[in-house]
Amino acid sequence: MSRAVAQTGANFAMQVLLREEEWAAHLREKTRLGLQGTPPWIPPVWFYDETGSELFDAITRLPEYYPTEAERSILRAHADEIVALADVDTFVELGAGSSEKTRLLLQAGVQHGRLDRVVPVDCSETFLAACSADLANAFPTLSVQGVVADFTSHLGQLVHSDRRMVMFMGSTIGNFDRDDRASFLADIAADQGPGDCFLLGTDLVKPAARLLTAYDDSRGVTARFNLNALTVMNRQLDADFEVDAFRHRAWWDDEGSRIQMHLVATRDTGASVGAFDDLRVDFPEGSHLLTEYSTKFTRDQVAAELADVGLTVAGSWTDPNDDFLLTLARRT
Ligand code: AVJ
Repeated sequence: MSRAVAQTGANFAMQVLLREEEWAAHLREKTRLGLQGTPPWIPPVWFYDETGSELFDAITRLPEYYPTEAERSILRAHADEIVALADVDTFVELGAGSSEKTRLLLQAGVQHGRLDRVVPVDCSETFLAACSADLANAFPTLSVQGVVADFTSHLGQLVHSDRRMVMFMGSTIGNFDRDDRASFLADIAADQGPGDCFLLGTDLVKPAARLLTAYDDSRGVTARFNLNALTVMNRQLDADFEVDAFRHRAWWDDEGSRIQMHLVATRDTGASVGAFDDLRVDFPEGSHLLTEYSTKFTRDQVAAELADVGLTVAGSWTDPNDDFLLTLARRT
């Protein structure tokens, strides 16, 4: 295990539990297995190079894509209540991203009085360092401790205090399949101390037609976002996917209660992947590559899955449209 702690400012430090190369090797191995699966799939990490991150940002501003704004509106309306109920001195934000919406909670936490530390956790060191430095500037009374980690394997090594709120927002949990979700939640529960709590953001089930337009927008931004995964793999895995031989498809998987995003071959095509010893993957016309799950929940389903791992709902909040749900839970 490699560790490095760099003191980078008065209220800002970075800790590295995960080396860039280690993480890259892990993702490559997952992808190698996925591409050879039936049906073939890839982890949704290849979306997010610079172009993909910009496309995702554009998605969040589409009129059809409601989750980002819905979650923000919940935080705008209820941040005070959430932090009062949580009553913690430390926030640990898993998959922190830019922590942009989290700022609403941080503001409330500072005003509430007890919050003095925030620990953004992400797998990308450069991105995390920049975002953590921004946070440290914006919140001079808080200690900002960025941790580069894989939160599926480093949970137990993250900062502990008697009172932490571990946060997993933005409906990122929707990317997991049922098994991965259950083991992730079990790990979260096992890591919770008596004064800790867990804040989870989930997208809610709604009519399929509305979900489908959210994941297949009229401007084609989601289509470009999906196809960009091929371009990223071409560059980062030395592959030769024919991007123009695929089209974007989103469909509602009722049994799994999730949107599935696929890339469908529009003609016989294939690729060889240099990073995997020129592994050959064939895509006959009409065949699919699964690129993402986006699971949608009911309130009861969230409560049941939390209960399965010994967590009890302490509070939950939705936006006025009932599109999105934030749930605060504690160990039973
Ligand atoms: C970032 C995983 C929450 O599932 O809605 C948006 C990603 N994919 N449009 C989601 C996404 C297509 C998004 N998450």
